[in-house]
Amino acid sequence: MTDTVTTPPSPCAPEDVRRIACVGAGVIGGGWVAHYLARGYDVTAWDPAPDAEQKLRRLVDAAWPALTQLGLAEGASPDRLTVTPTLEEAVADAQFVQESAPEKLELKRDLLAQLDAAAPAGVVIASSTSGYPMTDMQTEAADPGRLVVGHPFNPPYLIPLVEVVGGDKTAAHAVTWTSRFYEVAGKSVITMASEVPGFIANRLQEALWREALHMVANGEATVKEIDDSITEGPGLRWAFMGPMLTFALAGGEGGMAHMLDHFGPSLKSPWTRLEAPELDKKLYDAVVAGCDDAADGRTIADLVAERDQGVIDVLRATGRLPQQRAKEDTK
Ligand SMILES: NC(=O)c1ccc[n+]([C@@H]2O[C@H](COP(=O)([O-])OP(=O)(O)OC[C@H]3O[C@@H](n4cnc5c(N)ncnc54)[C@H](O)[C@@H]3O)[C@@H](O)[C@H]2O)c1
Repeated sequence: MTDTVTTPPSPCAPEDVRRIACVGAGVIGGGWVAHYLARGYDVTAWDPAPDAEQKLRRLVDAAWPALTQLGLAEGASPDRLTVTPTLEEAVADAQFVQESAPEKLELKRDLLAQLDAAAPAGVVIASSTSGYPMTDMQTEAADPGRLVVGHPFNPPYLIPLVEVVGGDKTAAHAVTWTSRFYEVAGKSVITMASEVPGFIANRLQEALWREALHMVANGEATVKEIDDSITEGPGLRWAFMGPMLTFALAGGEGGMAHMLDHFGPSLKSPWTRLEAPELDKKLYDAVVAGCDDAADGRTIADLVAERDQGVIDVLRATGRLPQQRAKEDTK
């Protein structure tokens, strides 16, 4: 990262942001819109799809009961969303821009350059990319210094984590600003020191996902068995204690040191096969059909509502609802 002379500081302190532009309003962009509306911001959104506005408003309406349970900021309302006919109008007055367009490198490069040309000078533009390093995406922008990765988890209105990282040409002050902004906006932030494709959490998720696909491809486990193995097993621990501390407890009173002495050698045994499997039609169909079976008649909307309630219940049970966190902070 460099402090480029061409990147002025943001015209607005993270605490003073009132207007946010969300560009790309699908699953993630729409989830961001819902989050920012619930936190009381004015949001402008732009998406080129002809039915984008209807879809976006449906997504916000579906998320609103969960957001109401979490506790809305004063004055928060879906009425504070404006969908604009052009990208330029969406970002014209924005104090922060969140880009959530499809995961295609060329598209991201061009779009980030377009956003950079249209947004007020110094305003930070964050990309929701799941894995592209910002260094690879900021190549076409006149001021790459204000382009930052702000990687959320689905749905952004419920899962607290955002991974923040800049590229080679990102100004250090833009990264600091972005991390602070997300904290003010109610997120839990990891600011990464260096770029890693897939960042932290997706690199970990991808390893699990690859193993799961191998097991389906080889007929070693069904989709349902894979899901149950996590929700009835390690997933229960991961909601409040990460894989490292969890494994430290597997070493009993000897903690991680005993765990490493005991299980270290099995790291070399063939429990994992980390080459990606070929996603051929047979595997594709098996995974899709397995998910249809596992859904057992529930629609995607049913599953979204079930997931939202589940996440809220887990956050509540582990003392991590926004209002519970606020109480802890004031202690
Ligand atoms: N789905 C996830 O779980 C997830 C999680 C974290 C991050 N992400 C990242 O978020 C981004 C969006 O993914 P998604 O899952 O919401 O995809 P999506 O397909 O649901 O939404 C993408 C939206 O972008 C719109 N779009 C197409 N071309 C565009 C353009 N040129 N400019 C602006 N918008 C355009 C589409 O009309 C669509 O509404 C990707 O970078 C993805 O990697 C996804």
